[in-house]
Amino acid sequence: MKAKTYFITGGLGFIGAHFVHYLHQHEPEAKIVVLDKVTYAAKPERIADLVTQGKAILEEVDIADEKKIDALFQHHQPHVVLNFAAESHVDNSIAGPAVFLETNVKGTFTLLAAARKLWMEESNSLKEEFKSACFYQISTDEVFGSLGKEGAFNEKSNYAPNSPYSASKAAADHWVRSFHHTYGLPTLVSYCSNNFGPHQHNEKLLPTIVRNALAGKSIPIYGSGENVRDWLFVEDHCAAIVRILAKGKRGETYAIGGNNESSNIALCRKLLSLLDTISPRQDGGAYESQIDFVPDRLGHDYRYAIDATKIKTELGWEPKVSFEKALELTLRHYLEVYLSDDNA
Ligand SMILES: NC(=O)c1ccc[n+]([C@@H]2O[C@H](COP(=O)([O-])OP(=O)(O)OC[C@H]3O[C@@H](n4cnc5c(N)ncnc54)[C@H](O)[C@@H]3O)[C@@H](O)[C@H]2O)c1
Repeated sequence: MKAKTYFITGGLGFIGAHFVHYLHQHEPEAKIVVLDKVTYAAKPERIADLVTQGKAILEEVDIADEKKIDALFQHHQPHVVLNFAAESHVDNSIAGPAVFLETNVKGTFTLLAAARKLWMEESNSLKEEFKSACFYQISTDEVFGSLGKEGAFNEKSNYAPNSPYSASKAAADHWVRSFHHTYGLPTLVSYCSNNFGPHQHNEKLLPTIVRNALAGKSIPIYGSGENVRDWLFVEDHCAAIVRILAKGKRGETYAIGGNNESSNIALCRKLLSLLDTISPRQDGGAYESQIDFVPDRLGHDYRYAIDATKIKTELGWEPKVSFEKALELTLRHYLEVYLSDDNA
């Protein structure tokens, strides 16, 4: 059987790049084509080894550019599209929401339209060579809005996005759903919680904590730090995506959680206490003393949590790496990066 061609959009980003490596390791014969606009969030070095070795092809393109996207679909004839590309930072969406609409909504629509054109004979009928085709949208638990102290989101939760970022991700999910229901496009959507791991952009919480701690600067924590998130190790997330792609029912959605709920302040303290042990401050003080509570993010959602029963029971996926191990591995990565004054 001919090797499958995968389009991985946003493959120079944090999760996308991890996924490119993961896929290559687990399906070495796969043809991997990365579509990325190379925004501020992209780091080509994340997959440079694979590109140099000819194991992944990099196409620099905006997913909202209809003409170029169409041409790339015709040229590479992908069987699978995994849409990781997005503007992904909530703070940026508050400051400048327009690009979130363009990339996250129009971009997703453009990919869907190109996939439909390439894969489908007519509505509800895939061309013979694309019988195994699938459009996989990487969504977020943030589309469901905010929880109180109790409960967890699952696939049946109502959409209630609160930020321009989550609104744009929610809109994209609706477009995906509509292409499945209207045209029979084979689709999958997964909602994941906060990812963490090596190579995350400087702007995100964990790298920010480690970088400022090591530089002897104050460590900014929003509000009183009581906002709660579920933390998912990026490698576990990649494994979940592969499992969903292999076994998930087309047209369905899956929630992926790490089963690691923590308030921002508790996570920060945990990380800093680990840092005290691994790389103590020269003055013998505790890094925790550098924590600085800053004015809260506008409309900051209080709590997100995921009930991952469906993926566990139907597809047999569970996170494999313990939170402690994943946190230490992540911390050691950022230590290496920031102590060597390199880039994350
Ligand atoms: N990081 C998380 O904790 C998290 C949690 C839930 C969901 N997600 C979702 O997972 C996906 C990946 O997140 P991430 O943290 O890796 O994001 P990221 O910001 O690190 O990377 C995004 C990538 O998309 C590319 N990109 C942006 N606009 C583009 C465009 N118009 N055309 C082509 N490429 C474009 C960027 O250059 C970058 O390489 C996103 O869809 C995000 O919404 C992330």
